[in-house]
Amino acid sequence: MKRPYITIGMLAFLMLIPLALTSTRKMMRRLGKRWQQLHRAIYLIAPLGVLHFFMLVKADIREPLIYGLLLALLLGYRVRGRVTRLLQFAHCR
Ligand code: HEM
Repeated sequence: MKRPYITIGMLAFLMLIPLALTSTRKMMRRLGKRWQQLHRAIYLIAPLGVLHFFMLVKADIREPLIYGLLLALLLGYRVRGRVTRLLQFAHCR
């Protein structure tokens, strides 16, 4: 309760476990479409990791800021690719 960053870190860690367990080729095949739905949780979990880092630093937020920007860039790039594909699909119809 006194250190909520620990709770956030723990939450992120626990949420990573099902993703780790389903990261084999066999599990990917077995889960099919549901694999993708499950692994979209990373869009929530990874920002939680960054939030955890932000909460534990005191004055100097430069390092968590770098992590946050890199994550935003990487996840943003994936979202952008998806939106582009959706728009192309809508255009073809
Ligand atoms: C059970 C789960 C977790 C606990 C209890 C926990 C706890 C902690 C604690 C106590 C620190 C401060 C260390 C120090 O400087 O004294 C820390 C730092 C950090 N944690 Fe976690 N954490 C957990 C999970 C995670 C997860 C899942 C991530 C990322 C996805 C993460 C990323 C970080 C980062 C980036 C730092 C800063 C490291 C640095 O000092 O440069 N943690 N964590």
